[in-house]
Amino acid sequence: MEVVLAKTSGFCFGVKRAVDTVYEQIDKAGKTGDIYTYGPIIHNEEVVRDLENKGVRVLNSKEELEQLSMGCVIIRSHGVSKDVYELIEKKGLVCIDATCPFVKRIHKIVEKESGNGRQIIIIGNDGHPEVEGIKGWSKTSAIVIESPEQALKFDAKKDEKLCIVSQTTFNYKKFQDLVEIFRKKGYDIIVANTICNATEERQREAVELAARADVMIVIGGTHSSNTRKLYELCQSECENTYYIQTLEDLQLELPNSVELVGITAGASTPNKIIEEVQNYVRINF
Ligand code: F3S
Repeated sequence: MEVVLAKTSGFCFGVKRAVDTVYEQIDKAGKTGDIYTYGPIIHNEEVVRDLENKGVRVLNSKEELEQLSMGCVIIRSHGVSKDVYELIEKKGLVCIDATCPFVKRIHKIVEKESGNGRQIIIIGNDGHPEVEGIKGWSKTSAIVIESPEQALKFDAKKDEKLCIVSQTTFNYKKFQDLVEIFRKKGYDIIVANTICNATEERQREAVELAARADVMIVIGGTHSSNTRKLYELCQSECENTYYIQTLEDLQLELPNSVELVGITAGASTPNKIIEEVQNYVRINF
């Protein structure tokens, strides 16, 4: 029996970089280093708990940041608005910026083009931390659009200049459709396709693997929407698809006829868990 792990399973480049940054900081500063992350570094309780045990605390709001008088604040891969950096500086704290470079690029575009007088349109999910961060780089109030209805409703003067960017994880096809609605309205538009293909690649590879596999295992948190999506995609190709959080959840019974077991994992699943599952299946079956 063959066990195949999808190459793109688990952390994407930006999340890995952010998590590594926190562990490096712990090594440098030790337990007494007053290390904070602005929001949980990833949506994985085990990792956040491990970091807490190593002295890292999570700041949940600007008000909590306001209370600090010393220490270092790590910005996670989603990025933050400009005023958070300003507050960190004003408070005399050390800022360690682990914003994913793909997100940082959006901040730069938004800052520049809003400075040039363009109305910023963000195609994405309002309220998502990445979108909130992007909004905070626009010199004028940015508008978030996530549905065709909202795009159709958008109304501005005919000579209005727009700059459209996207949340990194937005669906490419939906982005194109929304941009098309704006184009048809005849505005002067700059479009920056800022979608990151890490999610799409992970999904594409998972579907390909599931189509070949007799059994498919998808690993990730129950609250992780990208893991749920992976599970649904895999299940449509392979009916014996299991959704587990950790090795403890795996109750696998493999008949002798099984030739290929595929494994993939969501974006916030640590390597350690993926390896444990992979080794278990290799050794026990
Ligand atoms: Fe990950 Fe950065 Fe893309 S955080 S999903 S590599 S934008």
